[in-house]
Amino acid sequence: MAPASSPLPISSESDEKYANVKWEELGFALTPTDYMYVAKCKEGESFSQGKIVPYGDISISPCSPILNYGQGLFEGLKAYRTEDDRIRIFRPDQNALRMLTGAERLCMTPPSLDQFVEAVKQTVLANKKWVPPPGKGTLYIRPLLIGSGASLGVAPAPETTFLVYASPVGGYHKVSSGLNLKVDHKHHRAHSGGTGGVKSCTNYSPVVKLLLEAKSSGFSDILFLDAATGRNIEELSACNIFIVKGNIVSTPPTSGTILPGVTRKSISELARDIGYQVQERDVSVDELLEAEEVFGTGTAVVVTAVETVTFHDKKVKYRTGEAALSTKLRSMLTNIQMGIVEDKKGWMV
Ligand code: COI
Repeated sequence: MAPASSPLPISSESDEKYANVKWEELGFALTPTDYMYVAKCKEGESFSQGKIVPYGDISISPCSPILNYGQGLFEGLKAYRTEDDRIRIFRPDQNALRMLTGAERLCMTPPSLDQFVEAVKQTVLANKKWVPPPGKGTLYIRPLLIGSGASLGVAPAPETTFLVYASPVGGYHKVSSGLNLKVDHKHHRAHSGGTGGVKSCTNYSPVVKLLLEAKSSGFSDILFLDAATGRNIEELSACNIFIVKGNIVSTPPTSGTILPGVTRKSISELARDIGYQVQERDVSVDELLEAEEVFGTGTAVVVTAVETVTFHDKKVKYRTGEAALSTKLRSMLTNIQMGIVEDKKGWMV
């Protein structure tokens, strides 16, 4: 496979553009940056050396598998600016590995792990002015793998595009103390044998209608149950879930219907480090309703406390704030990401 390296273009952007950004006001929305990374490959071949090009619209066949059949994967990871002005990326190898697994499931050609990581680094470097000042946000990096050639029949894509773009972002949810979740007992996000365990683009759009309905009734997000029994919790619209009772922290297992979150894995490790027993196992709605604490994890949401869960007509309130384990785990994680404590785990690149 060709190595992914290309000289960085010299930025001609005026510093005024960055000086005018109100970093504190950023939510989770697109602020277009200057450059993106693009590489392509033909069916049966490997990816060409990628290029950093100006950020902008791409041209794609109306008959492409991504537009017709949703053949595509995406990833999400972040770059952080430290107090001493270094820029660091959190565990890009883990996102690369997840893209490899997803590509296998969707019959796509993935970039190699090295090309993925190199593409992420190049995208961040080319857009380095867009990495917010420490404590004022992060640079969200969005790698895409899409079936971009023309194929009318349901088949592997004749051409695949690997693209990485980035946007500075702030918090994902606008909540003060925690999320108010609604347990959806009618719809399911994933089913056994489906694509719930990979980051397929098709996992996300079916959730939008349900999310809007929940938001219009005052909820912040939906919690899905498993399709097989309807008794166990799975995940939220865009993040994993944990419950805490006593010294035990539990999260549903990644056995095909749950996304193997990089933050999920990292938080499990940090919770073990401070003496909690972490169990990856089926977690019933009954246990959820009896938990002391509930929280979500994901690149976009980081670690976000859940304040209430509503299931049918039952509403339960959980511990949040300074006394909550989620608050402690969130600072342990962000302290590593922001370079406030030493990265003993070697997570930062
Ligand atoms: C992320 O946390 O990076 C995600 O991919 C969730 C996304 C749907 C906002």
